[in-house]
Amino acid sequence: MIRIILSIVLVGLAIGVAGFGTLGLQGKMSRKPPTELFPDMDRQAKLRPMEPNHFYANGISSQLPPAGTVARSEAIQTANGAVYRFEDSAFNTGHVVGSTNYVENNPLVVNLELIQRGRDRFDIYCAACHGKLGDGNGITKKLNVMPTVANLHDKRIIEMTDGEIFNVITHGKSTMGAVGPLIPAEDRWAVVAYLRALQLSWLGTKDDLK
Ligand code: HEC
Repeated sequence: MIRIILSIVLVGLAIGVAGFGTLGLQGKMSRKPPTELFPDMDRQAKLRPMEPNHFYANGISSQLPPAGTVARSEAIQTANGAVYRFEDSAFNTGHVVGSTNYVENNPLVVNLELIQRGRDRFDIYCAACHGKLGDGNGITKKLNVMPTVANLHDKRIIEMTDGEIFNVITHGKSTMGAVGPLIPAEDRWAVVAYLRALQLSWLGTKDDLK
């Protein structure tokens, strides 16, 4: 009998605690900070913007962006004195300025030096997947870690404009990740130039050697 009464009391107590825990003080105001089991770094030592401090050389918490940072709308002056905004240049975007069309041709002067630079970068940044020949037979295929990789000698890719290939390199495409963050625009155009040379080498016939 005592056992039964005790269990009823215990169950009642458990229900009471659970009920109070979930509904108890809902909607009540309290000036005390809430109990934090996991503080989630809500409070920490930090500097607010433009706050004076002695940590940095300029004496305030806000620092200039790292050298070479360019705001989208900011005008850039090139070595030869030309001034343009980042977006107003096919060199940066691969697009015809003021439109969404891709530029037909590489904006850089394509010479042996550029092509060799492109080969160097291609072998580092593209060959793992596309293979040194660009035929899609890179090491990732052998290891079976990448789904079908594009064969860069496909008619469709040969027919792409230089600007579109630059865009694929910069931003990636479906399962191919962006390479833009890894290499500067000049090197991306060098890769485009080298890819054209690779494609041309496959399209060649014996007659070209005559
Ligand atoms: C991690 C593997 C990987 C790397 C590295 C890689 N690619 Fe790709 N690339 C792919 C895959 C996979 C596809 C096919 C994507 C699809 O259409 O499904 C592809 C597609 C392409 C295409 C065709 C896009 C289209 O419109 O069909 C081009 C051009 C290309 N890559 C060029 C490059 C160049 C140039 C580099 C080096 C700068 C590079 N890729 C680096 C995996 C890679």
